[in-house]
Order: sequence, then C-alpha cells, then structure tokens
Amino acid sequence: MASVTYDFTGSTIAITGAARGLGAHMAREFARAGADLALCDLEKTPAGLDYDTSTPGELAAIEEEVRELGAQTVSMAVDVRDEGQIQEFFAAAASKLGDLDVFVNNAGVFVGNMPVTETSEEQWDLAIDVNLKGPFLCTKHAVQSMVDGGRVIIIGSTSSLIGIPYQVPYQASKHGVIGAVRTLALELAPRGITVNALCPTVAHTPMLEYLAREEASYYLDEVARLAGAFTIFPGVEAIEPEDVSGATMWLASPAARYVTGAAFALDAGYTIK
Ligand SMILES: NC(=O)c1ccc[n+]([C@@H]2O[C@H](COP(=O)([O-])OP(=O)(O)OC[C@H]3O[C@@H](n4cnc5c(N)ncnc54)[C@H](O)[C@@H]3O)[C@@H](O)[C@H]2O)c1
Repeated sequence: MASVTYDFTGSTIAITGAARGLGAHMAREFARAGADLALCDLEKTPAGLDYDTSTPGELAAIEEEVRELGAQTVSMAVDVRDEGQIQEFFAAAASKLGDLDVFVNNAGVFVGNMPVTETSEEQWDLAIDVNLKGPFLCTKHAVQSMVDGGRVIIIGSTSSLIGIPYQVPYQASKHGVIGAVRTLALELAPRGITVNALCPTVAHTPMLEYLAREEASYYLDEVARLAGAFTIFPGVEAIEPEDVSGATMWLASPAARYVTGAAFALDAGYTIK
C-alpha cells in the first residue's frame, strides 16, 4: 500500500482541544510534517460535564513534544465558549507565528446518552455552546488571521449526518456545524478560504473511554438497536486518531484546494446502513 507524506513547512496551523485525543494526535502529525502550531485547550472541566477534560499540564506536554519535533509554538488556556480568550489566542498566534494557514476546530464535548425527558437545559447549553458556538466564535477570529487564502476544518461527527437516539444536545450541536460549514464555504470562497467538516464515527480517544464507561447501560444498547453498529468492519469497534488526522492533513493540503462546503463521513460505514 502507498504511503503518504505531507510537507507543511512554513505553514501555521491552529488547533483547538489540542491537549489530548484527536487534537493532540493532529498536532504531532502536523509538527512531523514541518508546521508551526498554535494550540489551545481548557484549563478546567466545564460545569455539568461528568468526565474530566484536559489539564494545563497535558497541553504543556503536547507543546513540548511538538517543539521537540521542530515546531514553533504558541499555546494558551482557552475555553472556546469565551470570545475574549479566543481573540487573545489568535492575536498571540499571529504575533508570534504570522498569518494563519489552517484552522482545525477540534474541541468538543459529549454530554451523555439519555432520553430527552431526562436531558437538562444545562446539558443542552453545554453541547451547543462548546460544539456549535465554539466553532462559530473560533472561525470568526481565525479567518481574520488568514491573509493569503486558508483552510477551516471543523471536526463534526457521524452525529452531524444521521439521527442517533438519546443524544439530543450532541446531535443538534453536531448537525448545526454542517449548516455553518456550508454557509461559511460560500462566504469565504472569494477570499480563497475553504471550509469543510470531517465526521468521524467513534474513535479511540479519552472521549470514547468516557462513552465506554456507559457501555453496559440500557441507552447504549438502545442506540445500537436503533442505529446499528458503529462500524461495518468485522472486529473493528472504532477508528483510530490517525484516520482523522490523515483526512485533516489531506484537506489542509494543496490536493484539496477546490474541496469546500463538504461533510466527509470518516465512519467505517456507520452512516450507510
Ligand atoms: N472520539 C470519538 O469517538 C469522536 C467521534 C466523533 C467526533 N468526535 C469529535 O472529535 C473532537 C475531538 O474529540 P476527542 O475524541 O479527541 O475528545 P477528547 O475528549 O479526547 O478531546 C477533546 C478535547 O477538547 C477539549 N475541550 C472540551 N471542551 C472545550 C472547551 N470548551 N474549550 C476548549 N477545549 C475544550 C478537551 O479538554 C479535550 O482536550 C470533538 O469535537 C468530538 O466531538 C469524537
């Protein structure tokens, strides 16, 4: 099988939620390919979430790793619900690393599987604020640092593409980003900026460890009964972070220069059933 290598030397790439999971994997891969990186993540777990998000120590460790791989870096504690912090992050990135070439909106939260009757307003607000308002606010400021075209890549989910029961807030937030992607693609094409979404099925990350904790629950069984298995490949329960970072790098590369407004299912067949 052919191997693919990219050269992002001279490119500046910003990634949210970069301290762990898919974001950390992308940061390492882009650094290996020569990019400079602006990385941000949360300082503390948001109220209402029943698993831990990253710690400042985790973001510092990823920054150290990518610096050792040769990247120049900016890193900052940013909550993607906070426009002031976002503005400060992109301003610091532009001042230290120059114009932005690629923005990867990766930060996200999963607020749980539960029937709508047991879903709180707090869970709804949290999912919408992080997974939908976050991409809006971050893209708004990221594109102001894109001077000579650019790429916006938003990490959606198979929950952006099909109905999956017992996840109303997550589903609504992830469907919402597709509307934003299509609109932004039209609006930003005159500036040479492409905007796309990648929609993974379950992937091996800390977020999946949280989901797996609930695996024995009635709701996950019901999710599987109504929406089927998360992959159609025998023996494959989830995809890997490299499956998402590979697609991200392709979208960021010259090969995808005219790809815009798309939502790609990286779903091991989940949504075709
Ligand atoms: N892992 C999966 O199964 C899966 C499947 C489909 C889509 N996704 C999406 O992929 C993206 C990455 O998920 P992951 O699996 O790596 O999850 P993860 O929990 O392992 O990592 C997500 C990162 O986002 C950060 N984050 C959360 N809220 C934030 C906020 N308000 N501001 C800044 N940072 C914040 C977390 O601290 C964490 O470091 C998310 O958008 C998620 O919805 C994940």
